[in-house]
Amino acid sequence: MKIIDLESKHKDNYFHCLEEWSDEMKDAGDSKEKWYEKMKDRGLRVKLAEDDQGRICGMIQYVPSEYSFVDTAGFYIVKCIWVYGYKEGMGNQQKKGIGTQLIEAAEQDCRELDTNGLLVWGISMPFFMRASWFKKHGFKKIDKDNIRILLWKPFKEGVIPPKLVKKKKKLELIEGKVTVQAFVNGWCPASNIVYERMKKISEEFKEYIVFEYYDTSNKEVFDEWGVLDAVYLDGKVVQKGAPPSYEKLYSKVAKKVSRLK
Ligand SMILES: CC(C)(COP(=O)(O)OP(=O)(O)OC[C@H]1O[C@@H](n2cnc3c(N)ncnc32)[C@H](O)[C@@H]1OP(=O)(O)O)[C@@H](O)C(=O)NCCC(=O)NCCS
Repeated sequence: MKIIDLESKHKDNYFHCLEEWSDEMKDAGDSKEKWYEKMKDRGLRVKLAEDDQGRICGMIQYVPSEYSFVDTAGFYIVKCIWVYGYKEGMGNQQKKGIGTQLIEAAEQDCRELDTNGLLVWGISMPFFMRASWFKKHGFKKIDKDNIRILLWKPFKEGVIPPKLVKKKKKLELIEGKVTVQAFVNGWCPASNIVYERMKKISEEFKEYIVFEYYDTSNKEVFDEWGVLDAVYLDGKVVQKGAPPSYEKLYSKVAKKVSRLK
């Protein structure tokens, strides 16, 4: 097993969270690729774990902190770390030390880039990207927003811990219509799936729906709203964990629309 940099031949796999086999990923659209094209010139770093058979079994992606959901530049932040965890394809590769190698490689890289430190985020619950896993790797908690925890490892003396940017504006609903507001950054295919599904559903109900799209890879848009990735249906977030199915989202929207009639 070795840690390598992303090359052109890995891109499709990387754009699909190493899950090219997955039908679910077919709904993710091209937002990740567009995000990558923007971010590769803004300091995006991607490292991959390659096993002895040349298979990519893990990835970590990290960006300068000003392109994320924290209030301070000068750091790098891990957007996500993922070790392949499904029985499909190459099978579960977690708990073999691959995640440890990835986070250590990212940390080493960021030290060499002379940043103020490395930030990570995780959630306080025992699933998805757990904050507790990062704590075991020496990261300390510096902020919290609901279940989202921000942690850091400063590399320099006297640097001030960044804070999570929280939602800044109340969403305006439109009288007599169902409102769908999509904040799309592009970095996360799971969020992109929800956006694509809601876009399609909104198209089907277009005479009843006002669909607003916000491209938060544009920093001014993010700074105005404080929301990086979320789709709201009449002001309520539609995704809390894994992407809801097309059918589930459709029935939520249909229910809202039926109340208008
Ligand atoms: C969090 C994550 C990155 C950790 O990667 P990993 O490769 O499983 O991590 P490691 O193997 O280095 O460490 C995990 C555990 O395995 C144990 N371990 C490491 N090597 C081992 C080995 N050879 N044999 C048995 N156990 C081992 C470690 O002690 C560690 O124990 P812990 O659970 O008490 O912390 C991985 O589990 C993951 O991808 N989870 C999902 C995160 C996610 O949803 N990401 C997407 C976000 S957008």
